[in-house]
Amino acid sequence: MERPLLEIREVSKHFGGVYAVNGVSLDVKQGGICGLVGPNGSGKTTLFNTILGLYRPDQGNIYFNSSCISNLAPHQIYALGLVNAFQLPRLFLQMSVLDNMLVAARGHQGDRLLNSLFLRRKWQEQEKGLIQEALDILELVELDKWAFSPASELSGGQRKLLEVARGLMAKPTLLLLDEPAAGINPVLGRSIFQKLKDFSHNGTTFFIVEHRLEILFEFASWVYVMDKGRTVAAGQPQVIIDDPAFYQVYLGEE
Ligand SMILES: Nc1ncnc2c1ncn2[C@@H]1O[C@H](COP(=O)(O)OP(=O)(O)OP(=O)(O)O)[C@@H](O)[C@H]1O
Ligand SMILES: [Mg+2]
Repeated sequence: MERPLLEIREVSKHFGGVYAVNGVSLDVKQGGICGLVGPNGSGKTTLFNTILGLYRPDQGNIYFNSSCISNLAPHQIYALGLVNAFQLPRLFLQMSVLDNMLVAARGHQGDRLLNSLFLRRKWQEQEKGLIQEALDILELVELDKWAFSPASELSGGQRKLLEVARGLMAKPTLLLLDEPAAGINPVLGRSIFQKLKDFSHNGTTFFIVEHRLEILFEFASWVYVMDKGRTVAAGQPQVIIDDPAFYQVYLGEE
């Protein structure tokens, strides 16, 4: 049987006495959108940071594409195709939206000084291809109209979308997104999720933390619910909404 793209096995991460993540095991299968939900402070971002190598797990192991990544550095994990939108350098506000996209592209020939001097034609051709790719992705998140504006002119929600777009530009196998729909109006939020789902047919799988449950549940094929550092429910969204454990977790929230 084919192994899941991402396997988390009994992973714990604590800060002093606080178990932010406490013995979590979960799988993300290849394809589509997998969701991670839970109240504030339940450990979602800590789990993401542990997957990305920003934190080393105190216990447990993480496997990506069947190999153990628990002891790798963030840049090594990134090189394997496991990317987080916010792991990329922060936005360059004075640069154009398009240039922010180009900086995020992988294997950029122009990055190497000698290439840019001696292989100018090749570099220019590649640059043209990358620009088209960047514009296509910007269109996906409805930022194409701002391609030539400085990133500083974007609203908070649009900057978030630009981070997502830059994540896609790196052509990841697995893209982790922490609250991509935060601060974005519901109509655009839904349309972004629809487009991410479409995009997943090109070979990118998404693992998404999202507080806007009504949007996430419409597009995710599988959802994990976290509470106090543990996973308390898992299943298809339509099954999760009928799970008493799910209500239990959110009861204290309102
Ligand atoms: N760097 C840190 N140092 C100490 N405690 C931390 C640190 N990061 C997170 N925590 C604690 O770990 C727990 C989980 O936090 P985390 O940010 O992972 O939750 P979350 O599910 O992402 O919450 P939210 O939905 O609000 O983003 C919280 O109790 C938090 O206070
Ligand atoms: Mg968080």
